[in-house]
Amino acid sequence: MADLQARYEIMAGEGLKSAAERSLEIAGSSAVGRYLMELYASNGMGRTTDPSLHTEVSGVPLENPVIVGAGWDKKGRAIHGLYALGFAAAEIGTVLPFGQYGNEKPRLWTINQDHSVGLNRLGFNSPGDAVVDTYLQAAQPLPCPIGLNVGRNKTMPNETAAWAHERVIRRLGHYASYIVLGISSPNTVGLRGLQDKGPLRELIQSALAAMTEAKPLFIKIDSERSKHELNDMIEVGLEEGLSGFVATNTYMGSDLKAKYGIRWAREAGGLSGADPEYRKRATATVRHIHEEAGDKLTIIGVGGVDSAETALEKIKAGASAVQVVTAIRSTKGRVAEQINRELVKQIDADGMRSIRDYIGLDTKRGVKAA
Ligand SMILES: Cc1cc2nc3c(=O)[nH]c(=O)nc-3n(C[C@H](O)[C@H](O)[C@H](O)COP(=O)(O)O)c2cc1C
Repeated sequence: MADLQARYEIMAGEGLKSAAERSLEIAGSSAVGRYLMELYASNGMGRTTDPSLHTEVSGVPLENPVIVGAGWDKKGRAIHGLYALGFAAAEIGTVLPFGQYGNEKPRLWTINQDHSVGLNRLGFNSPGDAVVDTYLQAAQPLPCPIGLNVGRNKTMPNETAAWAHERVIRRLGHYASYIVLGISSPNTVGLRGLQDKGPLRELIQSALAAMTEAKPLFIKIDSERSKHELNDMIEVGLEEGLSGFVATNTYMGSDLKAKYGIRWAREAGGLSGADPEYRKRATATVRHIHEEAGDKLTIIGVGGVDSAETALEKIKAGASAVQVVTAIRSTKGRVAEQINRELVKQIDADGMRSIRDYIGLDTKRGVKAA
């Protein structure tokens, strides 16, 4: 176990993160580090706390609508640091049953000049649930809710995914306020097939059965589902008691990558961040789910969120909260605070009372309701 942990410590230098950001992340995992984070936070960063930002996802109260998306803190080491940077919650993971290195490096890039568009094929690097357990124990008491995103190892066939999810939920579920099934990464061969109707139904049933205490259950959805496929997922979700969707994961298609140069069009992996077409695609998925399911399913919107405007775009399309990954790096950790500060001003300028008043405004349902 010590060896495994050491190996993952070495891997820690990788990533979309600069050394400074990395140290911010590590700082969040010790008492002294937390103090430093708080100093950092009070030094011009800080949290905007305003009642107009209060929201919730499936009964989980959030101080503001901005959550750290899966992939930034795969181990549960940075929760205090991320909270100090203004986030309302962090989705930890994807956490797998067993430690796994992921794909060979290089496997993570930013592909435009201001580092706001990312490409990755990490391939579910995870220290495994036992190591994440030690980090989550060390992080107690948690400053905010966390989500737990669970997945299967690369060497496990899809038929064993239910077992893998159950195992991680049983071990770590008690730390989490909500659980997500990570079945949409483009970087594990065959994984996305788990979103198909049959496997999806089985996975929802088994994950709900694995919970010792009832918690909201979400499915992380890919960004390439057709409307027909989305409708199938919505139907199964509604029938099986799913709480909602985290929409969406990164985008695999070479059409968008090609805009950044032929080199990137040929590179395998998922595109993320401030690409306008990717962002639009993710928002369209949010809108479709909201228009079909309304309040019956909760949506956490993710994909290209980097400002109050792009956060509101997802919320007006039907998301109750948003997640951010790539923009944490391109804004040097400031993104949550920037979004929240601007949202408070926007809510006031629009004469609204709460961020919740915007949910779904920009959809057929919103127009009908108005
Ligand atoms: C470096 C990196 C690692 C990621 N790892 C995961 C993961 O382990 N599980 C998951 O469900 N999504 C993962 N994602 C997808 C993100 O959670 C998110 O859906 C996607 O990046 C779009 O958000 P963004 O535009 O704010 O980056 C990862 C994304 C990035 C950039």
